Amino acid sequence: MSKPAEIVILTGAGISAESGLGTFRDVGGLWSRYDWRDLATPEGFARDPAFVLAFYNWRRERVRAAEPNAAHAALARLSARWPGGVTIVTQNVDDLHERAGSRDVIHMHGTHLTALCASCGARWPAPAAMDPADPCPACGIAAARPDVVWFGETPYHMERIAGALRQADLFVSIGTSGTVYPAAGFAAAARAAGARSLQLNLEPPRKTGLFDAARQGPASIIVPDWVDEMLG
Ligand code: OAD
Repeated sequence: MSKPAEIVILTGAGISAESGLGTFRDVGGLWSRYDWRDLATPEGFARDPAFVLAFYNWRRERVRAAEPNAAHAALARLSARWPGGVTIVTQNVDDLHERAGSRDVIHMHGTHLTALCASCGARWPAPAAMDPADPCPACGIAAARPDVVWFGETPYHMERIAGALRQADLFVSIGTSGTVYPAAGFAAAARAAGARSLQLNLEPPRKTGLFDAARQGPASIIVPDWVDEMLG
């Protein structure tokens, strides 16, 4: 009897777009309205922590008001019923996969749910509104920052992700433009290790040759369709 396939799924902002959370690089996306150098780098935070925290407070509020959509629910269904392993790696800092029922989601770019002490590395549940004067509950220093990975920083859980990619039989990229490394290199890494690759996205792949198959459409439609096919 052959071993059931190991599936690694990478999600990006596009899977949460129909939940009302904006993407980054589409027309009207966050990085067309704001300068990422001010809002998503350690240097920007050092220049103006109040501005950066206000931006993430606003995003956290949007995430709390949002609901998972049919694509998040479909991936939770796949994880629960697929006889092999399903590893969900997300670049998203929202918790919509978890609220749809997925467990053990790998948040490679961090999460809005926790605050991080830039001084001692302690983490604690993020309050609705973070303030530069907030003391760290562990060391007492006022150095609270969002627990998100900024440009120039190393994404979280890279060893675990590399291990999953090596074991993958199928790699699926959902709702990501594939422009930010190291996530943008996962499809090639999985293929080099012998996996097949599939892209599910509103737009066709930016690079040719990375995916064995690609389907275009809104995630809330094409992800449940694909999961239904997988589960027969
Ligand atoms: P992008 O904004 O770069 O890409 C979003 C992708 O989702 C695009 O390819 C869209 O075509 C697609 N998309 C939009 N709406 C969709 C829908 N309804 N259904 C399916 N696909 C849809 O977002 P990411 O690739 O996630 O990092 O961006 C990667 C990283 O860049 C983010 O994690 C963030 C950002 O800077 C950090 O902040 C460190």
